[in-house]
Amino acid sequence: MANIETPRRFPDGFFFGSATSSFQIEGRSNDIPQGDSIWDTFCAEPGRIEDGTHGLVACDHVHRWREDIELMASLGLSTYRFSISWPKVIPDGTGTVNEPGMAFYEAIVDGLLDAGITPMPTLYHWDLPQALQDRGGWTNRDTAEAFANYARVMAERLGERIPTWMTLNEPYVSAVLGHVTGEHAPGTTNLEAGLAAAHHLLLGHGLAIAQLREAAPHAELGIVLNFTPAEPATDAPADVALADVRHGFDNEWYIHPIRRGEYPTATVEALGWDQSVVQDGDLDVIAAPIDVLGVNYYTRQVLSAVGQELPFGTPRTEMDWEIHAPSLHRLLTWLNEEYGLPKIVITENGAAMPDNDRADGRVHDQDRIDYLHDHLSAVLSAIDDGVPMAGYLAWSLMDNFEWAKGYAKRFGIVEVVPETLERIPKSSALWFEQLARTGVLPASGSDPH
Ligand code: FCB
Repeated sequence: MANIETPRRFPDGFFFGSATSSFQIEGRSNDIPQGDSIWDTFCAEPGRIEDGTHGLVACDHVHRWREDIELMASLGLSTYRFSISWPKVIPDGTGTVNEPGMAFYEAIVDGLLDAGITPMPTLYHWDLPQALQDRGGWTNRDTAEAFANYARVMAERLGERIPTWMTLNEPYVSAVLGHVTGEHAPGTTNLEAGLAAAHHLLLGHGLAIAQLREAAPHAELGIVLNFTPAEPATDAPADVALADVRHGFDNEWYIHPIRRGEYPTATVEALGWDQSVVQDGDLDVIAAPIDVLGVNYYTRQVLSAVGQELPFGTPRTEMDWEIHAPSLHRLLTWLNEEYGLPKIVITENGAAMPDNDRADGRVHDQDRIDYLHDHLSAVLSAIDDGVPMAGYLAWSLMDNFEWAKGYAKRFGIVEVVPETLERIPKSSALWFEQLARTGVLPASGSDPH
């Protein structure tokens, strides 16, 4: 798509910003006592994080948040999606509010508003209080109730100042990587546990929506889901069947009950799931209306039943994820046609790249510019097709703790120098700034320097 010849303009009101999450950037402060999260526990277990690192310091955002807000303002970004660390505001997951933790987020929100940046908090980006995990975490239905109470507390304290709340980030990843493959915290490997966790995450989302509607009636409410389009490698029935199951499990499992009030039947059957954790009325709670869907998109998957590695020779990022922007366009039109959403925001899109071209002290990341350019072009094509796209948030504002990969995978448009934690905008940040300031996507994504 990089060869589209003329610059194109995004519609008026379309916003550009960046995204981060609490555990990936904040670190800890002595001034903010907090509870442990499941990611603290996970990082402390040998072998869980590829480079043996943890989130105790991360980008030290807990001390540098003012500078980070200034940075976003200097880049012309109008929206910031961040997440609230549940164990910073309610250390044990339920019970007493931790005032220093609450004050931290109140200050960030006020700082953003003063800088003219719209705050878009996500209530849960994977850092579950360990105290709740000790009682079963998301496999325990009580965690859904605890989440709704926490949502209520946040809406009561920040409600007036927040135009858009997101409940969960990528429940697929919490459920499946956390409980089925064990790559993420809490690191269990059990399909039944994963399906129970997925259901309780969705239930928690629905219960939280009800609380937020009451406590913040003016706010727009939504959830952030990740989608990885699944395509068969060939027309062979076995490939097609495999792609169908992956599509159901990876892409439909969350949006379908939210929009249709039921789990996708064919996938339920394929998994042989008995739904014993689903109680009467749960699906009505889960299907509460939302105002906005956050879409996280990074890559697609091409599936072969005979296990070939696919597709061969296509460009990939440092995560080994195929770069395939046309799949984003198709995904957005599918979501719109299938689920008729009121509004869609790209809440994450971006790429880990090698970042080894460092002439004159700055990372020249032409590859990341190309990635962003082509995916933004796909968003424009979706807009042309009538998909109600409202904004685009780059993942991520800055290099950060990339979960089980540690700090080795860098997604930032701003570099965080490992030794000093200094922030230095990469070429992609300056390129993105021009787009954010003008709303014009240039014909191709060249380095502004
Ligand atoms: C998403 C996560 C985000 C980040 C990106 C690369 O799945 O939501 O925190 O790790 O992937």
